[in-house]
Amino acid sequence: MKNIQRIGIMTSGGDCPGLNAVIRAVAKAAMGSHNLEVMGIEDGFLGLIQNRMRMLDNKSVSNILTLGGTILGTNNKVSPRQYTVKINDRIETRDVTDRCLEHIAHNHLDALVVIGGDGSMAIAADFVRLGVNCIGVPKTIDNDLYGTDVTFGFATAVSVATDALDRIHTTAASHHRVMIVEVMGRNSGWIALHSGIASGADVILIPEIPFDVKIICDYITYRARHGKRFSIVCVSEGAIPVGGKPVVDRVDPTSPDPIRLGGIGQVLAEQVEGATGIETRTVKLGHVQRGGTPVPADRVLATEFGFKAIEILCAGERSRLVVMKGRTVTHIPLEEAEGKQRLVPPDDPLILAARNIGTCFGD
Ligand code: F6P
Repeated sequence: MKNIQRIGIMTSGGDCPGLNAVIRAVAKAAMGSHNLEVMGIEDGFLGLIQNRMRMLDNKSVSNILTLGGTILGTNNKVSPRQYTVKINDRIETRDVTDRCLEHIAHNHLDALVVIGGDGSMAIAADFVRLGVNCIGVPKTIDNDLYGTDVTFGFATAVSVATDALDRIHTTAASHHRVMIVEVMGRNSGWIALHSGIASGADVILIPEIPFDVKIICDYITYRARHGKRFSIVCVSEGAIPVGGKPVVDRVDPTSPDPIRLGGIGQVLAEQVEGATGIETRTVKLGHVQRGGTPVPADRVLATEFGFKAIEILCAGERSRLVVMKGRTVTHIPLEEAEGKQRLVPPDDPLILAARNIGTCFGD
């Protein structure tokens, strides 16, 4: 096995709080404890395609632990197998994987640390099959990466959503309104479930449990008749009515994963107001959940994950995904996570607990 001397690191996919904390941990452990060189690849796989990377040093990763976003930049629209180029008004798709392999060889990168979610891990798994040693570090506010109990970024997103729901609570109570707060999560309901429970939301709607709007309205009306003249609904952007489809906010034809969800809160607000007669407003939290300073739990997790990535790489491991199992940071084959999503099981203990304290899931 070739001795590892230089690694590349990238942040790929949608950003989330804690990315810089991982970059810092990886770079400090690699440079400080193992004398490795670390190249920062800019804007995820786009930087690899375009050969944009720079050498990191202690100074460049100092003072970034608490910083939101990513000093390397990121991209959630690029896949080397389906790289889209615009020619006049036409969009053409090309396979530029070979170009990436050339850039890896040209820059003498002995391994890649890919900090990303499911889409990025699928790309990394492809490179693994082509002989590139990739170590994955699981990130996403959605917490939906298969193989790990938790991803960094999730705790911060839950904290932001909970804070928003708490604030909405007081104004909803003052005005005797129904307030619907739409949170992110794509096809998984982890953010809605956790922030909904943390803030005592009356209704929590997640993609894994299709809802019946009549059940929601009956519940809100029942509450109103029993003196609770306001209700809080926490809805995941991917929530779907029974037999229905998710609400799509935009379609990006340049992205291999082109659907962006959003808008279910507004659709629901109109239906609830119409059926209950109670004024119903909606707030879409959007990207505020992804920005800003990571909470301490995410800084700790990011540091553990980053350190582990370098530890296993230097121990000779190849093509692994760093994961959290129970309270232990460990690793699994990177390809194990490919093409899978970790959804909320409908019998998750949290759902059981919430149901038993009266939370409505719309079913
Ligand atoms: O995967 C993270 C996430 O924030 C999802 O919750 C959301 O559906 C999506 O990214 C939004 O992506 P974009 O930033 O491209 O709108």
